[in-house]
Amino acid sequence: MDGTFVRAAGDIAREAGQFLKHFSDHHKLNVEHKGSNYDFVTNADRESQRLVAERLKASFPDHGFVGEEDNLSDAQVGEILKRDAYCWVCDPLDGTVNYIHHLGLYAVSVGLVRAGKAVAGAIYLPEWDELYTAEQGGGAFCNGKPIHPSDCNDLRYAFLTADISASNPQLKQANLERILRVAMASGGLRIEGSACVCIAQTACGRQDAYWNRGLHAWDVAAGVVLLEEAGCAVSTVYSEPFDFGMKGGFLCAAPGLKGAFREVIGDQ
Ligand code: IPD
Ligand code: CA
Ligand code: CA
Repeated sequence: MDGTFVRAAGDIAREAGQFLKHFSDHHKLNVEHKGSNYDFVTNADRESQRLVAERLKASFPDHGFVGEEDNLSDAQVGEILKRDAYCWVCDPLDGTVNYIHHLGLYAVSVGLVRAGKAVAGAIYLPEWDELYTAEQGGGAFCNGKPIHPSDCNDLRYAFLTADISASNPQLKQANLERILRVAMASGGLRIEGSACVCIAQTACGRQDAYWNRGLHAWDVAAGVVLLEEAGCAVSTVYSEPFDFGMKGGFLCAAPGLKGAFREVIGDQ
C-alpha cells in the first residue's frame, strides 16, 4: 500500500468531523428513534454520511461503500465485506447520544475492507482534534505520531471501557451483568458511549481494553486495522478470530491483558 487509501480516509474523516462540530454549534438537531428505543439518528448523522460517501465516490469511483445510515443488516454487510473488492465502511457519527447531549466523546470512522480484512482506516475525534490512522503493514498513528498499546498485564490494575448498548432488553441485561463482573475485577471501568473513541484510546494505550457485544461493522472497520497495526489483540468476546459478520461481539485489549479480560467476561 502506498498511503493513498489511509490519507484519503484521514482527510475525509477529519472533514466530516469538523462538519459535525460546526453543525452542533450552529444548527438545530432533529433527533429520531431508529429501529429501537435505544437507537437514535439525527440530521447530523445523515449529512455527515452524505459528505463522506460523496468524497469517497469522487476519489474511488470503483470502490463499494457501506454507511451506517444505509440500514443494512449485519449479515448483509458481512457478506458484502467478504468479497474480493474494496469497500469503504463508514460510521458518520459514532456516539450519537453523546453528540445530542453536547458531550465531546464522539467520532467519525472511515475504514476500507477487502476480502474480510480491514486494510486502511481513520478515526477522527473532532473535539480533541485527534486523527487516528493506520494501513496494513504501515503502523498506527495519532496526528502522525506512532501509537502503541499499554503494557498492562494485570487485570487488577487495568483501566477498561465497555458499553451497555444492545437493542434488545435481554442482551442489555446480560451486558450489564458482565460489566458488573469486570468492574469488580479491574482497576477502573468506564462506559463512554462511543465505540470508536474507546477503540482509539485502547490502540494508543490510554486505556487497556474495551469490549461490546452490540457492535456493527461500521463501528469497527477503521478500528480493527488501527488496533492490529498498533499491536493490540482483537477478537470476538469468545476469543474467536474477529469477523465482520459481528456474531461474537468485539473485544480489543493490550496484548498482556487479553486472556484475563476474556476470562472475567465469560460466555454467558
Ligand atoms: C453506538 C456507540 C455506542 C455503542 C453502540 C453503538 P452510534 O454507535 O458506539 O458506544 O454502545 O453499540 O451503536 O449509534 O452512536 O453510531
Ligand atoms: Ca457507531
Ligand atoms: Ca453512528
